[in-house]
Amino acid sequence: MTPAQAKQLVAEAAIEYIEWDWVIGVGTGSTANLFIDELAKIKGRIDGAVASSEASAERLRGHGIKVMELDQVGDLPIYVDGADESTEHLHLIKGGGAALTREKIVAAASDKFICIADDSKLVPVLGAFPLPIEVIPMAKSYVARQLVKLGGNPILRDGVVTDNGNVIVDVHDMAIENPIELESKINHIAGVVTNGLFAQRGADVLLLGGENGVRTLT
Ligand code: 5RP
Repeated sequence: MTPAQAKQLVAEAAIEYIEWDWVIGVGTGSTANLFIDELAKIKGRIDGAVASSEASAERLRGHGIKVMELDQVGDLPIYVDGADESTEHLHLIKGGGAALTREKIVAAASDKFICIADDSKLVPVLGAFPLPIEVIPMAKSYVARQLVKLGGNPILRDGVVTDNGNVIVDVHDMAIENPIELESKINHIAGVVTNGLFAQRGADVLLLGGENGVRTLT
């Protein structure tokens, strides 16, 4: 089975969690895109969606799904999004698509976070995937120096500007043994908007697609 087929399986499985008249939190990336395409098939059942990126908002609108602002709707019953890595404790690295800040906001405002991924994303320790950090542009060198002190190798993501007008620094070569603590430490560096560790608010359910179908971790 290809990763694309595995992603399709979990996109379909996530639809089972959707109830009538809900406003759905929707993530960003290739797996989230497949979920949006599945959501389009049941769009008559839902009231609308809150998107974690301009790209997802555009895809939702393209399917005729009403896109709402988080401020208009308050807390959401559910948020569905992919991940770059997950542990079995459902601590995640996200932000490969540079949408981490809005993803973290929508996840925080949601009662249940369903993470959907192909099973290659499950890892024993986070950090083989470089950790994305959204940074205010004028702070990028300062933030990079602090990240070196934390043991990482920060590299500016070339040519990327986030939906919020900021830059992304990817931290390479860090085995993240304590993601909850590191998430706080990095967020305390002046100039950091947020980092791609979703550990303090991890996923509630992880749907992993692979050869044997969909595996559910809670
Ligand atoms: C975007 C993300 C994505 O969820 C993550 O990069 C996974 O992407 P994909 O579904 O394409 O593998 O965090 O910022």
